[in-house]
Amino acid sequence: MTRLIIDTDPGVDDAIAIAIAALSPSTDLLGVTTVFGNVPLAKTTRNALRILEMCGRDDVPVAAGAAMPLVHPQARQDSTAHGDDGLSGHADVLPEPSRDAVADGAVGLMASLLEQAEEPVTISPIGPLTNIAVLLAAYPHLKPKIERLVIMGGALEGGNVTARAEFNVWSDPEAARRVLVTEDVPCVLVPMDLTYRCAVDTDWLELLATSGRVGEALRALTPEYVRHYTRALGWPGMVVHDAVAIVEAITPGTLVTESLPLDIECSFGPSRGAVIADRRRREQIDDTVALDEAGRVDVAMDTDIARLRAVLLEGIEEKMEA
Ligand code: BDR
Ligand code: CA
Repeated sequence: MTRLIIDTDPGVDDAIAIAIAALSPSTDLLGVTTVFGNVPLAKTTRNALRILEMCGRDDVPVAAGAAMPLVHPQARQDSTAHGDDGLSGHADVLPEPSRDAVADGAVGLMASLLEQAEEPVTISPIGPLTNIAVLLAAYPHLKPKIERLVIMGGALEGGNVTARAEFNVWSDPEAARRVLVTEDVPCVLVPMDLTYRCAVDTDWLELLATSGRVGEALRALTPEYVRHYTRALGWPGMVVHDAVAIVEAITPGTLVTESLPLDIECSFGPSRGAVIADRRRREQIDDTVALDEAGRVDVAMDTDIARLRAVLLEGIEEKMEA
């Protein structure tokens, strides 16, 4: 059983990721915390509540976190892919939430869930890393309670929001640097290089639509998102970035990783928010500098892509039969 907290900014792909975790019989979803990102915090929080409501999981506490990055303002949100409501203009396909977010706040909720946990907990951040940076800074004694962070973010080759940066890391590079470079909690980073390779096509979307009530609702969120990604992919389909990370969080080892020294570009040049992975050959590395374990992260490089696409669907279908 994976004990899991999701930190998220829903987001169409976040919605799919949350549904998979909420319906997973092998996952104890302890909480969902929200952060600004694709759209402002009030909308990401409401979307998280709606998604859990649709999945019949109003037992999972939701708490709102950071409304802005740690230091510098986010230059723009991601309404191109996710629409003004965060769910491609279709938030009202999902039920109205029957409850509010809890008063503790995201970091307070994560801290109390970790305090109470008898076994280590996986946290899967699938939005900007602001809440996680604050958690690690404010509650260092709870770090041993974190089994690992399974993070969707970054790009090794090129980006999506700028030529070099991926949206989640770019939205708060200082927080990403704190989490991925300065801290020593085990991390798996699932970059967009891999999530793009796991993109799903319209046949997959049709299977999703006929998989049951949750699949049908998730499919209804996607027409504009698919239009956006069809331009990026060059074929009709969409990239479910966050859901790829959630599958790894639920089933460790789904993704093939490589341990790489990372840094995050926090300057204000054209590479702000880029992930700098040290992929030099060993003989080229000055071992006083880069062979050090600090700043090493397990970066997801590969997976059985056909299997992963099937697992994403099964995660939504299986529970519908229950
Ligand atoms: C990431 O940014 C958001 O648009 C998605 O939800 C995902 O978390 C991809 O770059
Ligand atoms: Ca996201």
